[in-house]
Amino acid sequence: MHRQIRKAVFPVAGLGTRFLPATKAIPKEMLTIVDRPVIQMAVDEAREAGIEHFVFVTGRNKSAIEDHFDKQYELESTLRKRGKSHALDLLENDLPAAGETSFTRQQEPLGLGHAVWCARHIVGDEPFALLLPDMIMQAKPGCLKRMMDIYAQQGGGNVVAVEEVPWKDVNRYGVVGFDRTSNGVMMINQMIEKPPRDQAPSNQIIAGRYILQPGIFEKIAAAKAGAGGEIQLTDAMIALMAEQPFWGYEFAGTTFDCGDKLGFLLANVAHGLAREDIGPVFRDALEKLLIRHRDSLVDDEPVADSDLLEKVGRKRTRSVA
Ligand code: UTP
Repeated sequence: MHRQIRKAVFPVAGLGTRFLPATKAIPKEMLTIVDRPVIQMAVDEAREAGIEHFVFVTGRNKSAIEDHFDKQYELESTLRKRGKSHALDLLENDLPAAGETSFTRQQEPLGLGHAVWCARHIVGDEPFALLLPDMIMQAKPGCLKRMMDIYAQQGGGNVVAVEEVPWKDVNRYGVVGFDRTSNGVMMINQMIEKPPRDQAPSNQIIAGRYILQPGIFEKIAAAKAGAGGEIQLTDAMIALMAEQPFWGYEFAGTTFDCGDKLGFLLANVAHGLAREDIGPVFRDALEKLLIRHRDSLVDDEPVADSDLLEKVGRKRTRSVA
């Protein structure tokens, strides 16, 4: 019988250097997709998957995350006095119940593997989910929920979300090699971090969601620091794979890497367009903006990013003066 997954770990202790200066005083996980902090979206996904306890591995300058998951009495009382019941409901719905959150500190940002290891006492001897909050994985049902289904179907083990990338990009990611079971589930038999293109076993990469057995903690403890002095989670997973099965869930939705500027901007556009309240008016405004942008490109040499213009279906040939 497989053990139930009750806890999820959210590593949020990274420095967010790609978002400086914004992240000098604000955690990158508190940057918003429209009006929801990135970290809230990962918590929503975990809740949908049945997670009961949310473990945050924080660092210096991350106290805003703790405040976000706490009650704000003064704000709530002001909203109540002003009759803002919709805003009050929003705050109420997002708040985990008392005792459902734990916070621990990674004192130095020594890498993802080390951040996960910092959660070992809170997780204890049980399997757990791990979500990298800056990877927003848009799908219905959510990615972690689908992974829970595979976990139950396979009777336990470890599960990682994987997704296909163009072959030219494999050297930027952790890549998996795999076979398939008779029921089509991906059985991972190889993991390799940032392989040269000609040594990658496939173009399926490890995305930002994991279900891991507690044995991962001793493998992390035994792992040596790799590139940049960081302790890599992939190295510990490779060691664990020698003893336990790893299943792959082929994620079929859309991933936005919100630790990266382009991914973050695209996530805002995609979520803004999908919103019932502002979607239609946002689409109109965006189209107008793109037309204006295209017109300015027509005036300036050269017209390079025709891709963007094609996406709004309004590509125009340059007029020759
Ligand atoms: P990233 O490598 O994307 O985060 O880690 P980063 O280091 O904050 O980003 P840049 O490259 O400097 O811009 C993925 C996730 O792992 C966490 C991050 O907070 C992020 O959620 N992380 C990373 C830690 O918790 N501790 C670490 O030592 C490294």
